[in-house]
Amino acid sequence: MDKLPGFRDFYPADCARRNYVLETWRAVARRYGFVEFDGPVVESMELYEKKSGGELVGQLFTVGVTAEPGAVKGALRPEMTPTLARMVAARERDFKKPLKWFCVPNFFRHERQQRGRLREFYQLNCDIIGEASPAADAELLAVQIDMLRACGLTEKDFVVRLSSRTAWQNFFQSNAKRADGAALTADDEYEFFQIVDKAERAPPEKTAAALAKFGMSADALLVFMRSKEPTAELAPILADLQARGLGAFVEVDYAIVRGLAYYTGVVFEVFDRAKNERALAGGGRYDRLLSLMSDGKVDLPALGFGMGDVVLLNLLDEIPAAKAKLDAWCAAQHACELYVVIAKEELRPQALALVQELRDSGRRTDFALAPAKVGKQFQAAENLGARLAVVVGEEWPRVKVKTLATREEREVSREELAAL
Ligand code: HAM
Repeated sequence: MDKLPGFRDFYPADCARRNYVLETWRAVARRYGFVEFDGPVVESMELYEKKSGGELVGQLFTVGVTAEPGAVKGALRPEMTPTLARMVAARERDFKKPLKWFCVPNFFRHERQQRGRLREFYQLNCDIIGEASPAADAELLAVQIDMLRACGLTEKDFVVRLSSRTAWQNFFQSNAKRADGAALTADDEYEFFQIVDKAERAPPEKTAAALAKFGMSADALLVFMRSKEPTAELAPILADLQARGLGAFVEVDYAIVRGLAYYTGVVFEVFDRAKNERALAGGGRYDRLLSLMSDGKVDLPALGFGMGDVVLLNLLDEIPAAKAKLDAWCAAQHACELYVVIAKEELRPQALALVQELRDSGRRTDFALAPAKVGKQFQAAENLGARLAVVVGEEWPRVKVKTLATREEREVSREELAAL
């Protein structure tokens, strides 16, 4: 039977590639003082319907409708932000602000099949909670940029497109008028954000038709979308990144508005410069989500981003320097370092004791489970990428050690072997 479309098998080589990404993400997040957290894989469906909004709601995998009294409909997590907001709101007093939290969970979205989008994927999240100043936005963008730099990518390979929902909100409030003369609502505003979000991909007639409801023309929208002038909200963030030497990685681009419901101010997405791929990462401020989640009890500013593994690995495969780094890391994940060759089968008990001793001391060690010719055992050592073959034979209790790369061979005691 085949696996379901949009899901992946991770054979060892695929697992190594995935681990490279996860370990790089974890290392860089820690370098910036973020601490790791996690949440449940299943949450109530309502959490995502109410808090995520946008396309995500139609992409939920629902689970576990049971007959228990009061049972809720569950959904496999499609993102982390509602969970994070729920967790922080529940125990806000236990943590010093600002919180800098990260996680690397797997998510599930019932997406249409396309390059860079699967139905299960991994996503790094870095979020800062409890800091309203633009210094937090810059810190978040810096860690996001360094995630990609750590994978061997440069400003020639990717760009952060920085925008602001506040700017779009102001634009909407000063340009929109409802045909029925009614006041503009928050729902109208979100509907408008979704029109902007799709404007780059949608046919112009469709955008124009959607805007007509608010008495707006597509032309005015496009003019604003193409302006590169940073707003007063964005300027200090850009200056901060400039001071860190990361200015070349960021461009103002008002075409970005983001699909999810909870964003309030600064928003951004990361794209490959060659424009071959879908977004590598996206995020922004969601200053009202914690308050919404706690019925106003906890009111903390918040911001964060998500970066997926699928587009990232596609891009790393395309950029030679990044691919070389990825391949070198994977190649170094050999199954073993030392391979114990049993040259005389009657010495198997002694060889087992040696294997055990080496493993106890933390050395990655392997050996032939079934009796085999010495040549075959050396072949197995090569196949596993071992550095040294340790031959248990006539010389016992001394052993011959062969460096497989150079074919150099010497005889050593067990104490000397421990130091090799
Ligand atoms: P998002 O834009 O939905 O944001 O996802 C962020 C990134 O996750 C995307 O840019 C992409 O790399 C990856 N991604 C999303 N969907 C898929 C998919 N079906 N297959 C593969 N990769 C995918 C969020 O999820 C927000 N919760 C991020 C955030 C955190 N905002 C604040 N904090």
